[in-house]
Amino acid sequence: MKITVILFQLITLFTGIYNVPNDKGSLNINRLRTEYLENPKGIDVLNPRFNWILKGEGRDRYQTAYRILVSSSEKKLNQNQGDIWDSGKITSNITNQVEYDGISLTSNTTYYWKVKVWDESNTESSWSETAYWSMGLLKFSNWKGLFIGHDVGYDKTDKYDSLYLPPARYLRKSFTPKKKIKKATAYTTALGLYELRLNGSKVGDDYFAPGWTDYNKRLYYQTYDITKYINEGENVIGAIIADGWYAGYIGYGLFVRLDKVREFYGVNPSFMGQIHLDYEDGSIEIIATDRSWKSNQGAIREADILMGEVYDATMENTGWDSPNYDDASWKTPKVYTYPNGQLQVHPSNLVKNTERIKPIRITEPKPGVYVFDIGKNIAGIPELKVKGPKGTKIRLRFGEILKRDGNIQTENLRLARATDTYILKGEEEEVWQPKFTYHGFQYVEVTGFPGKPTLDAITGLVLSSIKTDASTFSSSNAMNNTLYKNIKTTQEANFFDIPTDCPQRDERLGWLGDAQTYMRSASFNADVASFMSKFLIDVDDAQRWYGAYPNFAPFPYSRPNQYAPAWMDAGIIIPYNMYKVYNDTRILEYMYAGMEKFMEFQADASTDFIRPGGGNNWGDWLSVNEATSHDFIGASYYGYDAKLMAEMAEALGKTDDAKKYKTLFQSIKTAFAKKYILENGHTSEDTQTTYALALYFDLFPEQLAKKGASRLAEKIEKNGFKFSSGFLGTKHVMLALSKYGFDDIAYKLFQQTEYPSWGYSVVNGSTSIWERWNSYTKDESSNSDLNSSMNSFSHYAFGSVAEWMFINAVGIDTEDSGYRNIIIKPAISKEMNFIKGSYNSINGTISSAWNWDKNHLIMNIEIPTNTSAKVYIPTSQVSNIKESNMSLKKNPDIKVLQSEEEFTILKVGSGKYAFKIKID
Ligand code: BGC
Repeated sequence: MKITVILFQLITLFTGIYNVPNDKGSLNINRLRTEYLENPKGIDVLNPRFNWILKGEGRDRYQTAYRILVSSSEKKLNQNQGDIWDSGKITSNITNQVEYDGISLTSNTTYYWKVKVWDESNTESSWSETAYWSMGLLKFSNWKGLFIGHDVGYDKTDKYDSLYLPPARYLRKSFTPKKKIKKATAYTTALGLYELRLNGSKVGDDYFAPGWTDYNKRLYYQTYDITKYINEGENVIGAIIADGWYAGYIGYGLFVRLDKVREFYGVNPSFMGQIHLDYEDGSIEIIATDRSWKSNQGAIREADILMGEVYDATMENTGWDSPNYDDASWKTPKVYTYPNGQLQVHPSNLVKNTERIKPIRITEPKPGVYVFDIGKNIAGIPELKVKGPKGTKIRLRFGEILKRDGNIQTENLRLARATDTYILKGEEEEVWQPKFTYHGFQYVEVTGFPGKPTLDAITGLVLSSIKTDASTFSSSNAMNNTLYKNIKTTQEANFFDIPTDCPQRDERLGWLGDAQTYMRSASFNADVASFMSKFLIDVDDAQRWYGAYPNFAPFPYSRPNQYAPAWMDAGIIIPYNMYKVYNDTRILEYMYAGMEKFMEFQADASTDFIRPGGGNNWGDWLSVNEATSHDFIGASYYGYDAKLMAEMAEALGKTDDAKKYKTLFQSIKTAFAKKYILENGHTSEDTQTTYALALYFDLFPEQLAKKGASRLAEKIEKNGFKFSSGFLGTKHVMLALSKYGFDDIAYKLFQQTEYPSWGYSVVNGSTSIWERWNSYTKDESSNSDLNSSMNSFSHYAFGSVAEWMFINAVGIDTEDSGYRNIIIKPAISKEMNFIKGSYNSINGTISSAWNWDKNHLIMNIEIPTNTSAKVYIPTSQVSNIKESNMSLKKNPDIKVLQSEEEFTILKVGSGKYAFKIKID
C-alpha cells in the first residue's frame, strides 16, 4: 500500500471519529461500471475492476470509506448478502480501479454488485443501484463448438485487376428446449465476420463482430443473453458469415501491389459457438456448432469491408432463420480447424449504430443518377427503402465530396470499390442494409432506382465503437464551435473497433502515429478507456520481435522494417495516457515488458543517446513549407519516451526502473541540446515543429526554454499566424505556446481561417477533419483529382487540437493521474470573449467557463465530488478576486496556496464556484 493511502486512512480514521453528520445529505452513487463497461454480459477478467462516480450537495464532499457487496443472485443482494464478496467497510477514498477480491469467479455465471460509501463526516450513504456482470467461458474445456462454414467452391483468381469476392455463408440449427428455461446464453464468434440470428431476428445490436485482432494470437467471442427470445417448441439459431478482416481485402494491399492482397489470416470464414440452456431444474443443455448444423449460400452474393456488398433478394432463402423451414436442400457444414489464437472476451464494445440520419437533399447530376446528401461525413452504411419490379438492380456508390459537376468524387477511395448493389425481389416495400461492409461518406449515389426516389429512400446509419458524449465545448467563435463538432464527427467515424486513419479509402488501418498524437484528445471527446485498452492489446500483439512497435496495429502484412519514429512511440504514449486519464495501472503492467523491449531497441539504435530517424520515415507528416529532419523527430521522441517511462515505472512501484529512465532522460536531454539547441535558444533546424516538440517534451535546457518559446511565437507571427507543421508538430505547437504563456498567439492560430489552419476547412464547408490542410478548396479549378491518391476528408489526426482546447482553452487537466487532483488553468486571453466546456472524467463531470465582463473576468467552475482542484486565477492580487461575491479572506471553502507574478493559485474542494476577478 502506498504511504499516501495509509496516511489518508489514518487522517480519516481520526477525523471520522470526531465528525458530526453533515446537513448536506449523504453522497449519491452513480454510473457503476465493471471493467469500464456498464453491466457487461461476459467478461473474462478474473479480478475485475469496479468504478463508480459520486455526487454530493454542497462543497468539499468526499468519500472516506466504501463497502462493496457481490452476490450470486439479485435476491441475495437485495437482502444484503454478499455471498460472493463482502469487502467490509474499507477506509479509502478510491472510487475507481477498485479490484474485486472475493472467491474465484466461475464460467457462465452472473454476479450482482452494489456499493455504499461514507462521506467526509462519516455519514453513510444508501446502497447504490444494483449492477451486474457475467463471466464468459473461462476454460478451454468449456468450449464444445466446432468452427463450421460452407463450402462455396474455392474460386480464387487473385489477380490485381480482378477482385475475388465470394458469397456470404449461412448456417442454421433447429432445436427444441427439453424443459423450462431459466436462462439462455449464446457464446459465439467467427473467423471472419458474423451476424447471429435467432428465430428470424438479429441477436444483439453489434456490427462487425467479433472485431479485428491478430487472429493467430487471439479471437474474441461475444456473449448474448437470449433468454427472452427462446420459444417453447422449435427454435432456430442461425449465423451469416463473411470474409471480414480475416479473409477479405485489407488496407492498401492491392494499391501498392503487395504479394498478398487478401486472406491475411485465413481463406474461408467459419463460425463457432454454443448456446447454454440453463433449465429451471438446474440442469444445462449445450447446443454447439457441429456437423448437425446445416449450411448454404443465400442472398448476400458479395460481402467485403472495402469493396462493398451485393444482395440479390431474389435468392433469399425466405424463413431460413425461423422455425418450420425445410432445410432438406441445405448441406452439411464444412468443419475448419481451430485457430491458434486464444479465445477471449472482447474487452470493449463492438461497433454499433449510433445515429440514423435523414438526407437533406437529392440532386440528379445525370439523368437517372441521384445523389443523396446526408449532411455530414460519417462512417457507416446506407439503409435503402424501395418498391419496384423483381430483378431491378440498384447500385449505391459513396463519396465524401462532390465534383464541380455535382457527381460524387470517388478517386480518393483508391481501390476500395465501396459499391453496394441491391437486386429487388419485387414484392412490397423492401428495406435493406448491408451487413459486412462500411463506407466513409456524406453522399450516396443511387442508380437504377425504379422511378424518382424521394428523401426517405436512403437513410445514413452511423457506425462506431464509441459515443462522443464525454465533453462539451463552446466559445465566442462560431467557427471554433463547428471545428469541435467536426472533430467529434471524425473521431466517431474512425473509432471503428480500432482507431483507423480514415474510413473511406483502401486503408482503414490502425496507424500508430495518428493514434498517439490524438490519444489525449480522444479521451476528452469520448470514454475511450475500454476501446484503447483493446487497441493496446493489438499494439502489443503487433510488436516486432526486435522490439519496435509497427506502423499500424493489427499488423497483417509481413513486411520488414515496418516502424517509424513517432509512429512506433505510440507503444509508450498511449499506455501513458491511459494511466494519466483513467489512472489505469493494469494496462501499464500488461504493456510493461513490451515497452522495456522497445526502449532497448531504441538504445541499440542510438549513438551517444541520440536516436536517429530510421525505418519508414514520414517525418512531420503533411507539414507545409517547412521540413523537420527525421533525425530530430527520432531523437526528440526517444527523450519523451524515457520521460514517460520514468513516470510509468514510478506508478507501478518499480523504483529502480524509474531512476534508470530518469537518468536516461537526462542523458538524452543533454545530448539532444548539444546537437539541436543553439546558444541563442534557437533550434538548429528552426522549424515550428522543432520548437514545439523540444519544448513540450522538456528537451530544452531550462535557461533557454523561454527563448525557444519566444522564437516559436515569433516564427508563427512572421508566418501570418499560420502553421507550417504536420501531424506531429501541430498540436505540440499549441501546447508549447500555452505552456510558455503565449496564449494570445495560440488563439490566433486557433481562430485562423486562411490556409493552413483548422478554420480553413470549416469556412470551406467541411463537416469533418481533413487529412491535408488543403484537402479541398472552393475555387480550385477541379478538385476531382486533387491529391486523389491520398486525400481523405475524415482523418482525425489534425483534430488533435482538442487536447489544447480542453487542457488550455477550457483549462481542465489532471495534476497526477485520473483527475483526482484537478488543475483548472484556462488560457485567458482578450483574443476570445468566452470559452465554456465540460468533461466527464473518471471521477465525474468537471466544468470550466470564463468570459470577459468589461474589466472583470468571470470564471465559473464545477469540481466533482471526491476530487479537489488547484485553480489558477490570472492576477497577483488576491484582493481582486471575489467568489460568490465574497472576498477570499472570508471564504472558508477556498485556500490561497500561492500568489505570484501571473497567477494566484487557489485550492478548492468539490462543488460549484463563481469567481469575479478585477483585471487592471
Ligand atoms: C495514413 C496516415 C498515416 C500515414 C503514414 C497514410 O496513408 O493515412 O494517416 O499515418 O500513411 O505516413
